[in-house]
Amino acid sequence: MNEAPQETLANLLTEDRTFPPPPEFTRSANVSAEAYEKADADRLAFWDEQARRLDWSKDWDQTLDWSNPPFAKWFVGGELNVAANCLDRHVEAGLGDRVAIHFEGEPGDTRAVTYAELLDEVKRAANTLTDLGVEAGDRVVIYMPMIPEAAVAMLACARIGAPHSVVFGGFSVEALSSRIDDAGAKLVICADGGFRKGKANALKPTVDEAVDRCPSVEKVLVVRRTEQDVDWNDRDLWWHETVANASNDHEAQAFDAEHPLFILYTSGTTGKPKGILHTSGGYLTQASYTHRSVFDLKPENDVYWCTADIGWVTGHSYIVYGPMANAATQVMYEGTPDTPHTGRMWEIVQKYGVTIMYTAPTAIRTFMKWGDDVPARYDLSSLRVLGSVGEPINPEAWMWYREHIGGSRCPIVDTWWQTETGAIMVSPLPGVTATKPGSAQRSLPGITVDVVDDEASSVPNGGGGFLTIRDPWPSMLRTIWGDDQRFLDTYWSRFSNMYFAGDGAKRDADGDIWLLGRVDDVMLVSGHNISTTEVESALVGHDTVAEAAVVGAADPLTGQGIVAFVILRGGVESSPEHLADLRNHVAKTLGPIAKPRQVMVVSELPKTRSGKIMRRLLRDIAEDRQLGDVTTLQDSSVMARIKDGLQAAPED
Ligand code: WT7
Repeated sequence: MNEAPQETLANLLTEDRTFPPPPEFTRSANVSAEAYEKADADRLAFWDEQARRLDWSKDWDQTLDWSNPPFAKWFVGGELNVAANCLDRHVEAGLGDRVAIHFEGEPGDTRAVTYAELLDEVKRAANTLTDLGVEAGDRVVIYMPMIPEAAVAMLACARIGAPHSVVFGGFSVEALSSRIDDAGAKLVICADGGFRKGKANALKPTVDEAVDRCPSVEKVLVVRRTEQDVDWNDRDLWWHETVANASNDHEAQAFDAEHPLFILYTSGTTGKPKGILHTSGGYLTQASYTHRSVFDLKPENDVYWCTADIGWVTGHSYIVYGPMANAATQVMYEGTPDTPHTGRMWEIVQKYGVTIMYTAPTAIRTFMKWGDDVPARYDLSSLRVLGSVGEPINPEAWMWYREHIGGSRCPIVDTWWQTETGAIMVSPLPGVTATKPGSAQRSLPGITVDVVDDEASSVPNGGGGFLTIRDPWPSMLRTIWGDDQRFLDTYWSRFSNMYFAGDGAKRDADGDIWLLGRVDDVMLVSGHNISTTEVESALVGHDTVAEAAVVGAADPLTGQGIVAFVILRGGVESSPEHLADLRNHVAKTLGPIAKPRQVMVVSELPKTRSGKIMRRLLRDIAEDRQLGDVTTLQDSSVMARIKDGLQAAPED
């Protein structure tokens, strides 16, 4: 072989800044560098030890059964109750008075729910579900705003072994009914509505219409939150008339480690939603371990806040199961970050003395856009660890988060994972890793993530390729609900014996991993595979740009040309010179190959409900095509506004 290997994905961006953990942080950190050595020496023994942090009613006979890949079984023969691990054992240990949830409603109403109160409510809800005929194995759909009852509903399902399927409270009748139907749910738990953007946002009408189409549903249990008028059907029951009157006497029964815990539908950015199935023992082991190690949780002192919605996997693993298995005290916020003002998040941090904050790059870039002076008005000195999840975080946004939120003192953990992985897979450890803006860095102890080329060989440092996972992990998805073949085709067919995550990635000169976006979004320019992430990061690195999305559009000369959509920072006016400057800035940062063919200024970008940019729709604009499916857009009118705005914008 004397030909240079075909480059799988270009590596254009370099980053020299690193931030070692503060020495006092390292001294008291939950996890030290030794964890990597232990896990490397014996991966299964390492996970065995982590599983022992939970309470098991019956010990397991085998840590991992991988005799029928990719269908894994973890902690084979073991039995536990997930809800009892999140509640009963803490109350039994004398922590009943500890606040589990500091609830902050959008209108400003608050509730502090202790572990004892949460357990009481979960027991009542479990009895109610049983009275309604829900048995172990039956599916329950939950469609709720961000209120404590959403967590109660999930834990009550877990307690009786009825897998839940939480559907994000912003989804449509169509999305809700297809998910109810696919899971064959017997019960739907919902609320009359929730408060969002200063208004009561009704949920019950969507449920009514969806359930009319779903013969599997026998009952609908309704939490009263907004007190708005609702239509009432024979199948409907009020939570406050059933759960509140149910007995709080409930013995949790243990289930097999592989008993299904939940189904969570993920659409990605295209295609029919996939019901990702997670089970009990392995899932809870990894959710709990990663929550403790990655955020360095000290449950006696910390006030933790994850800003995700309970309808996403982040809410499952890092609001409900991980934190509660660890007896954490956390904040739960119902509303939007700019209601009633753009300082709401920081006001909450100050009010509750939040110490650990976990949010998404899309939110961080929005805060940047709103201006440095907003967080500066609040006392954020309680914060000690900051987390990021959901998308690659550009170095610029990372630095802003560090300086303006973390007071240049808090380690930032950029956590890569997926609905499918169930828990964090790639992340710095805050007391161990010298962090690097923009990089998720390395797999956690016990996890073997790799970056490989087309032939499944690991790429050397400096190379780019596909992100894969070489060994099974405890919280891995077990299948796609009702569709084993799709599970095999989607994740296990690209490479043999390896899980393919669908993401592009590179390894830098130090061997650290950088996530480069979905491989479907990679642009092919003059024979080079260029990631959208790197070009977007370069654009956000220009001090006039708040947010950027780039796509490859068909180009007669280069195969694809790079077309960039940018949102400018507050107060910046664009001009043809400015746009030329942006294109040159990218060429200077990444090299001439990455210079955008065109830059367009927009006021918004099309995003999914969880904040991911839908590049497919931007490609339709860049190639002047009819728009494709917009049903998963957060705001379906945004595309029209982008198009209208572009007609009025200066040409580059
Ligand atoms: C996809 C999974 C994981 C919970 C929330 C999203 C992207 C996620 C990162 C990160 C770069 C990231 C990937 C991944 N992603 N975290 N830290 N850096 N990309 O869950 O909706 O299943 O999405 O989100 O593309 O595959 P999800």
